[in-house]
Amino acid sequence: MDDINRYIDQNKERFLQELFQLLKIPSVSADPVYAQDVLNAAEFIKNNMETIGLDNVSIEETPGYPIVYGEKIINPNLPTVLVYGHYDVQPPDPLGLWESDPFEPVIKTTEEHPQGAIYARGASDDKGQMFMHLKAVEYLLKNNKLGVNVKFMIEGEEEVGSPSLSWYVKRNHDKLKNDVILISDTGMIDNQTPAITTGLRGLTFVEVEVTGPNRDLHSGLYGGAVGNPANILAKMIAQLHDDKKRITIPGFYDDVMELSAPEREEMKKIPFDLEKYKRELGIDEVYGEENFSVLERQSIRPTLDVNGMWSGYTGEGAKTIIPSKAYAKISMRLVPNQNPDDIAEKFEKYFKSIAPKAVKVKVTRLHGGDAYITPTNFDGYKAAAMAIEKAFGKKPLPIYSGGSIPIVPLFEKELGTKSILMGFGLNSDAIHSPNEHYGIFNFLKGIESIGYFYDFYKQIKQ
Ligand code: BES
Ligand code: MN
Ligand code: MN
Repeated sequence: MDDINRYIDQNKERFLQELFQLLKIPSVSADPVYAQDVLNAAEFIKNNMETIGLDNVSIEETPGYPIVYGEKIINPNLPTVLVYGHYDVQPPDPLGLWESDPFEPVIKTTEEHPQGAIYARGASDDKGQMFMHLKAVEYLLKNNKLGVNVKFMIEGEEEVGSPSLSWYVKRNHDKLKNDVILISDTGMIDNQTPAITTGLRGLTFVEVEVTGPNRDLHSGLYGGAVGNPANILAKMIAQLHDDKKRITIPGFYDDVMELSAPEREEMKKIPFDLEKYKRELGIDEVYGEENFSVLERQSIRPTLDVNGMWSGYTGEGAKTIIPSKAYAKISMRLVPNQNPDDIAEKFEKYFKSIAPKAVKVKVTRLHGGDAYITPTNFDGYKAAAMAIEKAFGKKPLPIYSGGSIPIVPLFEKELGTKSILMGFGLNSDAIHSPNEHYGIFNFLKGIESIGYFYDFYKQIKQ
């Protein structure tokens, strides 16, 4: 047995116990109620970094939640790997749909995970995945096997759009100097089909407010004569797609990078089971832009989706009113080379243009980020592919993912280096949903793969 596998085998109970401690901390960055917990999670990471033997470990203050930094510089002349991850999590809502407490991790077996999966908010996104890096580096340090320098930068605001990270990165170019960035915050195809994510979508997120009368009105006395902002908002949103499910905002597709026919052929090689997909989601049919496959729709095509919508009375029973206001939160997932600011402007202009005079419309931008593509022919990718192949006995497929990690393009701009998205989650992990989980197989294979990465990276760079 390989050394690292022996180490994993001897220590996996402790690894899981430590991860459970971290998962018990409800570090929800979106909700100020959890502010102290977010700080406690940072403290936990700091302590773990110290325990495994990293140097210069510190909780770095920012205008928002801190970034936890730690490093091991074995020789300044050797290449440096920068590990990025996040210790914050999404809100656990809706709580009623969790089969167990989101912050009391439990292990359960499923069809996908015969060896068991850890159920807790953040298990896969991203505490479980980020923690694999600490454990892999723990192994390398304890056994004197770290062959390159490593720096860790773990943030606490990823799930709210990383508002402080660019502030921090801009002020710490030297400290964060690296040759490659390694991130596990994405997924694979299934447990027999490992992958490296080579594309991420960008994002423009807006909130819209539609205002009608200056107060809620009796829907009998005024109904029929006054514009109802809820009705109108629904109609406006419906107008944002045409019958072919294309987005109607003028100029929306102007800068979209279209994949070539050979690239689209290549994508067809990715295993995909439509029946299983529908069964898992409880849907009778899929729905999306004409002439594109499901995998294409959810990765290389831009989208527009309502993420939340509210207006009027939503409590028990009936209340007869015409609401004064209606709101929606809308995300647009972008592909290269769409620009998030440009798209936000185009959205606002069009959305206002389709509003009847009976209402006023306000559009507020919440956050955004660029899409990202990483090449497959550079040393970091090669080392990651070799590491995964050694751990899984199978070459990873390069895949485009539909999710967004806006700081990845920012790192490239600020630090000049590329990120390798070496993720071990599955789509069925239910990230951002109730009953989020992460396979124990994935957790342990991830640690093993990351351990090999450092060896191969050193070899390739020599
Ligand atoms: N880890 C996810 C992104 C992800 C997951 C990418 C799976 C690819 C595969 C990350 O934590 C996330 O949720 N990002 C947000 C964006 C952010 C600005 C809130 C997203 O994609 O919605
Ligand atoms: Mn994440
Ligand atoms: Mn997330």
